[in-house]
Amino acid sequence: MLGTTADGESSGPGFGGWPAWLGPWLGKLRLHAIEPRERLGRPPMIAKRRRWFSPLLIGPGNLCLRLLGSGVRVLPGAEWQARERTLHRALHGIELETGPRGWLLLPRWPGMVLADHARSRLNPAPARLRGLGAASRALRDLHRVELPHADGGCERLSHGDATLRNVLFDPGTEEARWFDFDTAHAPGLAPAWRHGDDLRALVYSAVESFADVAVADLLRTVRDAYADPAPWEQLRDRLARGALYRSPLHLAQACLPDGRRRELESLLLQGASRRGSLMGDG
Ligand SMILES: Nc1ncnc2c1ncn2[C@@H]1O[C@H](COP(=O)(O)OP(=O)(O)OP(=O)(O)O)[C@@H](O)[C@H]1O
Ligand SMILES: [Mg+2]
Repeated sequence: MLGTTADGESSGPGFGGWPAWLGPWLGKLRLHAIEPRERLGRPPMIAKRRRWFSPLLIGPGNLCLRLLGSGVRVLPGAEWQARERTLHRALHGIELETGPRGWLLLPRWPGMVLADHARSRLNPAPARLRGLGAASRALRDLHRVELPHADGGCERLSHGDATLRNVLFDPGTEEARWFDFDTAHAPGLAPAWRHGDDLRALVYSAVESFADVAVADLLRTVRDAYADPAPWEQLRDRLARGALYRSPLHLAQACLPDGRRRELESLLLQGASRRGSLMGDG
């Protein structure tokens, strides 16, 4: 378990001495090999395993994440596979199989990665926004799942890397499914903080990927689908302390033009003070 609490989160202007290129560069790093697998009479699968160099990066990477007070860490191989199993069982009632040489076999969900769907101008914005609504509802549902622990306690789930790159949207059924569970919040952090951190990744990456859609429409879509006020309050508090969009992790998850970022942040700050009107059934 990660020793950090999010208390040490960097705040204030600038990027805390980290070079500005580090975030976007980290965002392009691929830790996994992915292969589609077809077997006669069986539903399509995705095989996923760590690339050979991943273990070399995970240790130093987690040290940086800890120093940043990011509240997340990338799980080493065995823990990553165990978390994928636990979450597939809890969310979908599926038992995952492993193949030889470290492959983990996952169900191949239909549809498109939402980040790609958001960018595809083939569909009008309202059709694409239905994907964002579905992803927000699926995140809300994931956050409602309680995992029992061996010691008798239980843990409310959070994703850990809830960007539009980690959710698939099927326009046919309008269903969204979150995947890629290798980055986990420290379980000691309060559920509202972890859930607010997932909302941070979701809204910042939505503003990045839906570049042609007004920021207010994006935020309204997410808020209409995810109305629980506590995580939004946490997000607003972190923003008010200047702790959002400062670290290489936040920049790796979403790279926003300054104007749209400022607009988003001003709406996030206003939203909490106008709770009830903007937060629906909050
Ligand atoms: N269960 C799945 N169903 C369908 N496609 C999937 C599934 N899992 C992964 N993919 C495809 O493989 C790609 C990479 O998967 P994943 O995000 O799990 O790996 P990653 O190495 O963590 O990549 P990234 O760094 O982009 O998050 C996804 O963008 C998606 O296109
Ligand atoms: Mg991913």
